Amino acid sequence: MSDIRIEKVRKQFGNLEILKSVDLEIKDKEFVVLLGPSGCGKSTLLRIIAGLETESSGTIRIGDRVINSLPPKSRRIAMVFQNYAVFPHMTVFENIAFGLRMRKDSEEHIQRKVKETAELMHIENRLTHYSGQLSGGQRQRVSVARALAMEPEVLLMDEPLSNLDALLRLEMRAELKTVLSASNTTTIYVTHDQVEAMSLADRIAVMNGGRIEQYDVPTEIYHNPATEFVGSFIGNPPMNFIAPKAGWNISKNQVNKLGVRPEDFDVRFEPQEGFIKTNVLIKELLGSHQQLTTKADGEMIRINIPSDLQVPNGSDLFIRPADDKVRFYDQAGHIM
Ligand SMILES: Nc1ncnc2c1ncn2[C@@H]1O[C@H](COP(=O)(O)OP(=O)(O)OP(=O)(O)O)[C@@H](O)[C@H]1O
Ligand SMILES: [Mg+2]
Repeated sequence: MSDIRIEKVRKQFGNLEILKSVDLEIKDKEFVVLLGPSGCGKSTLLRIIAGLETESSGTIRIGDRVINSLPPKSRRIAMVFQNYAVFPHMTVFENIAFGLRMRKDSEEHIQRKVKETAELMHIENRLTHYSGQLSGGQRQRVSVARALAMEPEVLLMDEPLSNLDALLRLEMRAELKTVLSASNTTTIYVTHDQVEAMSLADRIAVMNGGRIEQYDVPTEIYHNPATEFVGSFIGNPPMNFIAPKAGWNISKNQVNKLGVRPEDFDVRFEPQEGFIKTNVLIKELLGSHQQLTTKADGEMIRINIPSDLQVPNGSDLFIRPADDKVRFYDQAGHIM
């Protein structure tokens, strides 16, 4: 069993508290993504799990072992970094074999594992090439193959695709997902790319300022953001957070903000009971739909509408959130 339990992990660098009591449990074979803005502590948390950094306090368990005091090599964890860490003067074969040789596995085992993981990553016909001659995408495959060859209980990946161009990222993302679900490895994957997170994760932990704001499956994170931060960080454009409008007759007390996704408005061209007036400032045609930036009572509201509706700039629209799609947030920005 390779379930991971992180309990009350804190990390200080000098006087700065970088991780503020993080709790996280990851099930055996689960694919969990740590998602959050730059500097929120994602890499620090990952490095603590790997044993490359020491926590200030807290406990980390894998299965029933407390691993806090174990050195990295005894944790049965493999890590893939953003910058690949592939050795250019070694062949692809030797790069993949690197960890196995360090561990003094048998030559027969090494031959078999390298071949197996190279096939998995579609680089089996590059084994004799020097890694310096490879493209970025191929190098990334080598570093994933090297990690998988170790048959780790847990695979940690820190922005492994961020050095690749957009098309290759997309391709590698799909491949990684297939390969990792076939390999049955428990994976923690760090990114600040929400699309990557949504498409890869079984569950997403959204981090902000050294805390986990929400930990749930992607659809819940999207449709029921636990905080205004999560709603604003996920979704492009983000969720609207709007002061309650009298015209919408929404009967709930103590509401500070309504959270409404841009695609969740009913839109009319004429005034109607229960709808409020909003003025179209900017119209962007995005192919599949149009994105409108509008203003109602001095507040910006972003609305997505079908691409075939004719809406001139400066025109008025009448809107109301679809009843089952409104979320309510309190003064502290928490969902009610
Ligand atoms: N060794 C260190 N000494 C001092 N401060 C550090 C150290 N490592 C990280 N930090 C600080 O901790 C905070 C979190 O860093 P971390 O690298 O974990 O962020 P991140 O979420 O991975 O960001 P990014 O998306 O940019 O990679 C940052 O403010 C960083 O400056
Ligand atoms: Mg980082």
